[in-house]
Amino acid sequence: MTEPTAPVPAATPTEDAVRAGVVSGFSALYGYEPDGLWSAPGRVNLIGEHTDYNEGFVFPFAIDRRTVLALALRQDRRIRISSAFSDTVIETTVDDVRPETLSGWSAYPLGVAWALGNVESFSNADEGAGVDDRLGADLDTVPGFDVFLDSTVPIGAGLSSSAAIESAMALALNDVWELGLDRQTLAKVGQLAENQAVGAPTGIMDQSASLLGRRDAAVFLDCRSLDAEVIDLGFAEAGLALLIIDTNVSHSHATGGYAERRASCEEGAAVMGVPSLRYLEIDDLPRAEERMSETTFRRVRHIVTENQRVLDTVRTLRLEGPGAIGPLLDASHVSMRDDFEISVPELDLAVETAQANGAIGARMTGGGFGGAAIALVPSATVPALETAILAAFAGAGFATPTMFVVNAADGAKRESLD
Ligand code: GLA
Repeated sequence: MTEPTAPVPAATPTEDAVRAGVVSGFSALYGYEPDGLWSAPGRVNLIGEHTDYNEGFVFPFAIDRRTVLALALRQDRRIRISSAFSDTVIETTVDDVRPETLSGWSAYPLGVAWALGNVESFSNADEGAGVDDRLGADLDTVPGFDVFLDSTVPIGAGLSSSAAIESAMALALNDVWELGLDRQTLAKVGQLAENQAVGAPTGIMDQSASLLGRRDAAVFLDCRSLDAEVIDLGFAEAGLALLIIDTNVSHSHATGGYAERRASCEEGAAVMGVPSLRYLEIDDLPRAEERMSETTFRRVRHIVTENQRVLDTVRTLRLEGPGAIGPLLDASHVSMRDDFEISVPELDLAVETAQANGAIGARMTGGGFGGAAIALVPSATVPALETAILAAFAGAGFATPTMFVVNAADGAKRESLD
């Protein structure tokens, strides 16, 4: 792995302003200074969709949009939490934070506080730690805290605004509660919060990208072993940009289609007698087709071929550079549209218009049923592509999409208070 050679851009005024706003917001609300400031990014998935909960491969990157959070420990067990996007301060205690008591946006950060006391440490388990070994936080003894946060990750765009909150919170509490958990375990904490406190049966991709990401690089994650490799993308050197096309069609993974797809995958694995679809290869598909319904087979085929596309993307990126991965992105979209059936007309139009207007590859990204598409485009053609997409959406009578370029950014970190 080589160090990135592209010039390192200075922090944008927006990021500085958000950090300053969070510190002053905390002080104004609670009347004293925070102990520290932590931040974590949203993510975009380059390729590998719905493969995470099938123990497969994903290749997301952390983006230059972040949640920033100021936190101070308290002497007692109380918790207060507020944000720049809500008018209220939510008040509770460490004793009362349980999945059943949480709702609304605070279920994400407070779900993390609960999950830190209920997670099984991945790395400790690997080292053969006994089941009685205490992992994470002892929620019977830890002190409470005050939090104020803000975020530049757009909500509902499929860019994991929720994972950004969870990862910032997990890192902050890991520091101030002195838990010493590694980042893979913190990703599991975020996933546990999302699954139990929010009720969305999601995988581990988003939190992993948010915690393990690095500037100008993507995270190649094996969701079975949680082995992660950070791989340089080289978009800027190749004159490429990654454009997000947010359709503004809202989606939720706590309801409906996402859980249904997950159930089909589990059914497919059970029929084939394997623990997860990760254990199937392309060669197994003819056998699978004979054994299950046509619909379940198509769900299975998406996962099995998508895993292969992730491996092919990583190999192609290494051998030929980012300019050669476009066809794999295109094929991923077709598979999600036709086999997994998680696209919507707005996403298909975004992808087709991008492909017809200079993108070297395009696909919907994230859980589907709305959200965003990505297009890998020569940087110089971004404005023309945006114009073409606006025209296509207007022509189809769809709501106006929101478009912006994202860069691969560093994962969650403690920020300086100055
Ligand atoms: C959502 C989930 C992830 C993953 C993607 C689909 O973003 O949070 O865990 O399953 O959908 O790849």
